[in-house]
Amino acid sequence: MTDRRPRVWVSQPLFDDTVAQLALHCDVVSTDAVTKHDSASLSANLADMDGVLITLNERIGAAEIANASALKMIANVGVGYNNLDVPALNAAGIVASNTPDVLTETTADLGFSLLMAAARRIVESDRWLRDGKWGQWSFTTMLGADLHGSTLGILGMGRIGQAIARRGHHGFGMKVLYHNRSQLPAEQEQAVGASYVGFDELLASVDHLVLVLPYTAQNHHIINAAALAKMKPTATLINIARGGIVDELALVDALANGRLASAALDVYENEPNVRPELLALDNIVLTPHIGSASLATRRAMVQVALDNLLAGLGIGPDAGKPVNAINAELLSNGTARIAVAGKKIYDKKR
Ligand code: GLV
Repeated sequence: MTDRRPRVWVSQPLFDDTVAQLALHCDVVSTDAVTKHDSASLSANLADMDGVLITLNERIGAAEIANASALKMIANVGVGYNNLDVPALNAAGIVASNTPDVLTETTADLGFSLLMAAARRIVESDRWLRDGKWGQWSFTTMLGADLHGSTLGILGMGRIGQAIARRGHHGFGMKVLYHNRSQLPAEQEQAVGASYVGFDELLASVDHLVLVLPYTAQNHHIINAAALAKMKPTATLINIARGGIVDELALVDALANGRLASAALDVYENEPNVRPELLALDNIVLTPHIGSASLATRRAMVQVALDNLLAGLGIGPDAGKPVNAINAELLSNGTARIAVAGKKIYDKKR
């Protein structure tokens, strides 16, 4: 039997010490420059690997894993995992993990920053000032919408939604309404200061709406022209979830024609491409998917992903049990390719 170190691919440059940490246990193939991996590049890079550390820019499904007969573990550095075809991974017995919790507060901070920036026209004001227009100031220049005392709506009430609710309720004295697949228990609603309403009521009642729901085929374009028409024309819309949740052309139309006051997007339908129609609008703030991008949080995310990857490769305190497995049923039903605790996997013939 040949005992060997697991082989691991890191899809993008992360922090300098990431590869060094992995190299203590694995043979690592790293990526030294930011790279757009197409399907062929992913297939080639996955082919000979036991584990991979990837970002949400790498889309992995049946085609990409077709030749990856040794692949046991995919550690996604991010909480959302719509870049992974989970049924295809399940069929192959490949466990995948994400990085929840560590990014909750940072992402909620960004959501709130975008809300403040859009409602109070901060980025637009900055551009206007730099363009030398202050001489045209009038009493009604850059009038925006208040946050304090207003009604905040949250669509999707997971960890990040709850963190935004707390900010709105406790920090800004906002009335907070939310809609979610399921209603929170009463004590949790009370702790974050939020009340459950139906989807249409949410749209119609709020002054500001923040989207924080996971993206699925069912909620593709859930914020479309019809939904936008139900919102107040004075309202603000913030999307920090996934681009596909909002029909961008319908949003452009609403913003351009006074049916919605302002918006902010951190996520887009076709990243990294941003529609020129969005770029042309003044009443929208656009950021490049930076929800979790604080130094401390990005470092924490990489550490969580590393721990999961090593666990999936049968290494470390959680060997055989990656804490953040998103398809953990493979571990309990015995269909996972990864090592079960106590058994080695690298001396098996492949
Ligand atoms: C970012 O969008 C993430 O899902 O972590």
